Amino acid sequence: MTEAKYIWMDGELVPWRDAKIHVLTHTLHYGNAVFEGTRAYQTDRGLAIFRLEEHCKRLFNSAKIVAIEPNFDYETVKNAHIELLRSNDFSSNVYIRPLIYLGYGVMGLYHSHAPVNTMIAAWEWGAYLGEEGLENGIRLCTSSITRNPNRSTFGKAKAAANYLNSQMAKYEAIENGFEEALMLDENGFAAEGTGECLFIVRDGKLISPPNDNSLESITQATVIELAGEMGIEVQRRNITRDEIYICDEAFLTGTAAEITPINSLDHRVIGNGRRGEMTKAIQDAYFDIVYGRDEKYARYLTYI
Ligand SMILES: Cc1ncc(COP(=O)(O)O)c(C=O)c1O
Repeated sequence: MTEAKYIWMDGELVPWRDAKIHVLTHTLHYGNAVFEGTRAYQTDRGLAIFRLEEHCKRLFNSAKIVAIEPNFDYETVKNAHIELLRSNDFSSNVYIRPLIYLGYGVMGLYHSHAPVNTMIAAWEWGAYLGEEGLENGIRLCTSSITRNPNRSTFGKAKAAANYLNSQMAKYEAIENGFEEALMLDENGFAAEGTGECLFIVRDGKLISPPNDNSLESITQATVIELAGEMGIEVQRRNITRDEIYICDEAFLTGTAAEITPINSLDHRVIGNGRRGEMTKAIQDAYFDIVYGRDEKYARYLTYI
């Protein structure tokens, strides 16, 4: 990890190496915290955060879902993102990680009396699934791990505890020689990747599962908006793993993964085994937006 200068901790800019917490921090033991993954891109007009409002809204919604009362208001947290990026000298693209967590002072599962803390860190981070992956695609496997079921967890919250599920699925995929895992829901339909949503292309149409069993993804929403503008029909419906085997193209979307083509699933080559034409067109359009080259989407960028 590339270190930066400062981390924003409860209203203060703290030198990176001094941003420490106590070992009895509540979240460290019981996993209740909410976070975001947001990106800022180096545009011609300097660093710009992509869809800051939407990420901050989801952060506060996540906190509401897991019954954490944030210790700062929405505007303060949003502005702290900007302050943090201004205080660090970033020369390439940046990943931003705000986290609202339960701090030190209370133990036991009843969390309501635990203090709440907020931190925002940012560091220079390239393509999550590799530059090579963005261009040539990645190999996926269907995970043996079912995506967190709605009856036992809160999938609309980007909550730390949800990611044990994703982490185990990712571990299994990598150890088995794949780059990423596809998790199915309890009914056997494609839910999402470990940190991405799924799209497939069939007969010129773009298909993505509904968000019944996935995070409400900001990248997915952006792609759907883009597709509408490009005249591509979008269907939101359930997808089975064998439909993915026989689709024409497939890709994953996420703030970290951006638009990453899928070459194969469970060793079945998808399409021609390379980035498909529609995937490339959507990828290009997405990068035009995040790099500030598409004026129509200027509203999604917060310049630093
Ligand atoms: C489980 C999960 N699904 C989907 C996504 C994609 O969401 P977004 O496009 O908002 O980054 C993420 C990443 O945040 C994720 O962690």
